[in-house]
Amino acid sequence: MIKKGIILAGGKGTRMSPLTKAVNKQLLPLYDKPLIFYPLSVLMLAGIKDILIIVNKGQLNQFRKILPENNNFGIKISYKEQLKPNGLPEAFLIGEKFIGKDNVALILGDNFFYGQSLTQSLKKNISLKKGATIFLHPVRNPNLYGVAFTDKKNKVKKLIEKPKKTNSNLAVTGLYFFDNDVTKLSKKLKPSSRGELEIIDLLNLYKKKNNLKADLIGRGGSWLDTGNIEDFYDASNFISTVEKRQGLKIACLEEIAYKNRWISKKEIKDSIKFYGNCEYSKYLKNLDT
Ligand code: G1P
Repeated sequence: MIKKGIILAGGKGTRMSPLTKAVNKQLLPLYDKPLIFYPLSVLMLAGIKDILIIVNKGQLNQFRKILPENNNFGIKISYKEQLKPNGLPEAFLIGEKFIGKDNVALILGDNFFYGQSLTQSLKKNISLKKGATIFLHPVRNPNLYGVAFTDKKNKVKKLIEKPKKTNSNLAVTGLYFFDNDVTKLSKKLKPSSRGELEIIDLLNLYKKKNNLKADLIGRGGSWLDTGNIEDFYDASNFISTVEKRQGLKIACLEEIAYKNRWISKKEIKDSIKFYGNCEYSKYLKNLDT
């Protein structure tokens, strides 16, 4: 069972400069919420209540203003700083104490997931005991991501980071479930040619031991990129379209917490006070509580 989650929200966001010069990318508005609400909502939908957020050195207070340790989502939030982006597996070294003897999920702070199949997949895979689980999604431009080659039974045959040429369209998304060996194995990794510890190298260690599982977020689900301005606005428009049509918000953290029975009406009222007079508060007021 996975009860702990890490959000890696560091990075320089260079491709989004100048927007990211003063503010961390994960705090920029993806339509009507800060980007980080979306990955946080994924962990909460999975049922994870104990969450470590890793941020760039010097940016902690920016995050605390919107996601305080003492929050209204019924979850435990703690923070750690990353001195410089040394690669995704560094999250397990920075988070070693936080992880302790438990299994852990990692989600990248700029990854957007959506869809009914996603929630089903989360619920199914959260019971992980041993090994690692990755979530794959078909994309048109797999060469920008870690790519998985699978057989007919969804078994991973090969994993390559950003291959120049590939005949697989299955990207390895930025959501990973790991058993407690993850810290020990991360310590074995050496920096790649781009000078970073690579998540694909870590996953390959699990694969070698036949301990890697893959689940597919199929075409009925969505995994959107927020890496550059174009993609960022496409994702924003996607959220706007769905929310306007349904009158329901994606990644409303209080709504998820309330449905999980982690908070009561009191916390929702406190949140409304905290956000002030805005659309998000109006939505909270009208929640079916
Ligand atoms: C990282 C991983 C890559 C993964 C991607 C998902 O890439 O290295 O395997 O597919 O996140 O967002 P990066 O964003 O560091 O280039």
